[in-house]
Amino acid sequence: MKKIGIFYSFRSIKTHQQVKKMIKQLGEENCEEVDVDVATGDDFKKFDHYILAVPTWFDGELPNYWDEYLPAIEDLSFKNKKFAIFGGGDQKNYPENFVDGVGIMAEFIESHGGTVVGFTSTDGYTYEYSRAQRGNQFVGLALDIENQSAYTSDRIKNWIAQINKEFGRK
Ligand SMILES: Cc1cc2nc3c(=O)[nH]c(=O)nc-3n(C[C@H](O)[C@H](O)[C@H](O)COP(=O)(O)O)c2cc1C
Repeated sequence: MKKIGIFYSFRSIKTHQQVKKMIKQLGEENCEEVDVDVATGDDFKKFDHYILAVPTWFDGELPNYWDEYLPAIEDLSFKNKKFAIFGGGDQKNYPENFVDGVGIMAEFIESHGGTVVGFTSTDGYTYEYSRAQRGNQFVGLALDIENQSAYTSDRIKNWIAQINKEFGRK
């Protein structure tokens, strides 16, 4: 079986730490890390299953490295590919844009024909608006290290088990 492509910025700090926990749970042999800062279209083509790490920056926007990478993949095929998206956010300081980046990425994937998996409940979070919210779910996993770090390990554990099933790997 092909590896899961884990796309994130190797320069990120908080995101990087969460990715390491995920890889531990998934098994290193099942994962390939891709640095979005230097990734090419060919890196994207290699996988069927993806974890995209998308923290929110600049009051509800994608980090620059994602903005710069998306044009490199937007004309490639997303058909039969599954994407699980997670991202850091801060519900206390950015309650009107909480984890918007996760929502922006989900919209991008879906508008290009890919399938987004790994939706999670919004229970336990307090904010005003999130572009990542659909009904009572986020279209991915929201991690708030600033305010809810005590929940992070369990949230990751549950989500990884969930997406492994949704990817059809376990
Ligand atoms: C300048 C700045 C802007 C931010 N904007 C948002 C935001 O709009 N929405 C949100 O939920 N979190 C926001 N955050 C919080 C980050 O998403 C959060 O700290 C995340 O864990 C950062 O991950 P990273 O260090 O891996 O980039 C912001 C943080 C900074 C420093």
